[in-house]
Amino acid sequence: MPLATRTDIPVIAIDGPSGAGKGTVAAAVADRLGWHLLDSGALYRVIALVASRQGLDQRDGPALANLIGGLDVAFSPAGVTVGGVDETLAIRDDAVGGAASIVAAIPEVRNALLATQRRFRDHPGLVADGRDMGTVVFPDAAAKVFLTASAESRAQRRLLQLRDMQRLNENRAGGRVSRRSQPVVPEFDALLRELEARDARDRERTVSPLVPAPDAHTVDTTAMTIDEVVSTVMAHVAKHVPLDG
Ligand code: DC
Repeated sequence: MPLATRTDIPVIAIDGPSGAGKGTVAAAVADRLGWHLLDSGALYRVIALVASRQGLDQRDGPALANLIGGLDVAFSPAGVTVGGVDETLAIRDDAVGGAASIVAAIPEVRNALLATQRRFRDHPGLVADGRDMGTVVFPDAAAKVFLTASAESRAQRRLLQLRDMQRLNENRAGGRVSRRSQPVVPEFDALLRELEARDARDRERTVSPLVPAPDAHTVDTTAMTIDEVVSTVMAHVAKHVPLDG
């Protein structure tokens, strides 16, 4: 469908720093509404992963833009594939997250990804999760939410998530995975420091910095359960998006 007609399709933009619960909340909201989901962070993670495997300089804008032009990335409920290879777990590695925040500061990378992200806007609607969904990629989103939480609680959640992923990885490999081939789960303090460094990079970059859109509804999720956050977001959505039923 040509881009011009897609502006009729409603978008819910969910932005915020790492670990504020965006991914889980966006997936739950998309599921409840039966809408499409864009995990834009996964795109930046894929670029960081492939760039590192190809030995590209993380700050070489033209080379990264060229890489993006030839990437074959596909999302499904099961995860993400690149060139047909399942990279769902590989992109969740913390080192890949750190590298993603470095490539995400390169203007050529952000420009090259704009059209890709906008192609996710499809009937009956899109829930988009990221840092600049409501400010740059979908400034006309019908509802905009900015999720925040204290750095400590975000680092704690991330730690639990990494441990879960490690267990999942072990189960998938039927116990055949060696400790050395597992992504390392960092200590809490190291995780907190890395998260604060990533926040600073995402907030202070000159292109599309992490800031709430002026018309975003900010929700501090520090003391909330995921179900409470989903209900709060759904209540905001109901006020701004005409929903069937
Ligand atoms: O949400 P995430 O942790 O998967 O995102 C990984 C990195 O990608 C994050 O540190 C910043 C960057 N990112 C971005 O700059 N803009 C987005 N819309 C999404 C992610």
